[in-house]
Amino acid sequence: MTKAAAAPRGVLHRWAEILPLSDKTPRISLGEGETPLVRSVHLAGLCGLDELWFKLEMCNPTGSFKDRGMVVAVAKAIEEGAHAIMCASTGNTSASAAAYAARCGIDCFVLVPGGKVAAGKMAQAIAFGSKIIEIDGNFDEALNAARELTARHPVALVNSVNPFRIQGQKTAAFEICESLGDAPDILAIPVGNAGNITAYWKGFGECAELGRATLHPRMYGFQAAGAAPIVRGEPVREPHTVATAIRIGNPASWKSAVSARDESGGLIEAVTDDEILEAYRLLAHKEGLFVEPASAASIAGLMKLGREGRIRGGRAAAVLTGNGLKDPDTAIAQYRPDVTKASATAESVERALGW
Ligand code: F0G
Repeated sequence: MTKAAAAPRGVLHRWAEILPLSDKTPRISLGEGETPLVRSVHLAGLCGLDELWFKLEMCNPTGSFKDRGMVVAVAKAIEEGAHAIMCASTGNTSASAAAYAARCGIDCFVLVPGGKVAAGKMAQAIAFGSKIIEIDGNFDEALNAARELTARHPVALVNSVNPFRIQGQKTAAFEICESLGDAPDILAIPVGNAGNITAYWKGFGECAELGRATLHPRMYGFQAAGAAPIVRGEPVREPHTVATAIRIGNPASWKSAVSARDESGGLIEAVTDDEILEAYRLLAHKEGLFVEPASAASIAGLMKLGREGRIRGGRAAAVLTGNGLKDPDTAIAQYRPDVTKASATAESVERALGW
């Protein structure tokens, strides 16, 4: 018997029926999507929930949810004849863009806020061979520059203002409905540039239309308190937070995030860095899930609402957007290492352990 080739995987294969693909769209893949949905054992109660499910978007090939949308944006850019792509990024979009550009043999230009991108994400952009431009400014300024540059030069913009990114990212909502047999009561998600909350709301709407879900979840978005323009109702000129991924003061998809909140009967609220870091530690210590700080914002938000008695049961899904390995500096600063030295004998290790 000959060995069968592995079945093609990835968002463009798995979700072709709900994506705007043509015969000419190259079916590229790094095996993104179909991420695990794992049930919480310890934190659900703290949030006042009957059930809490974690969508492990950190399990995508570059370690964040960005791969779902990037694969569609890059495939469509290539279909339209592009030889180069560009994005502004707090680190994950650039890691993802750089990976797909490397895979497809096209150029990738990334504009990042100087000194504000976590080490692992910079390492990815470097490893994939992208051209990195460190901006003397924040993400919002970098995105303005990227928009202008891509209007002037034959380079495709692959930030989430590119509608193909939203199309790809909506597939996660389909996967959640498929795994749970319906939409959850609540979808908790960190909000930065607000592309992902927009994509999930679109996805859940389509699931309901297609009969794949009977309910629409309430969308619960969480911003970092020092970078919470939607909560404050005005842009934040100098955003700051330990969750550098969502250090954004003027989100491009602001309006659609507000629509997602209001149409779903949900909320967008702020969580402090201390609350984010508490959830970050609890996710690792109590659930075995090492995420980056931005991803912990949604759990911080649910815990806060739970403590305030504003959640009374029900089923929530929380999107864990990025891998903790991307930000080793925050991990080292936040966890107290329990390390003892010993020589390489059982007796010595016993002595070190006090056994
Ligand atoms: N979580 C992580 C880990 C992120 O990297 C981002 C955004 C978000 C949440 C927020 O998602 O922007 O769709 O509201 N990162 C972008 C980037 C801005 O450049 O990597 P959003």
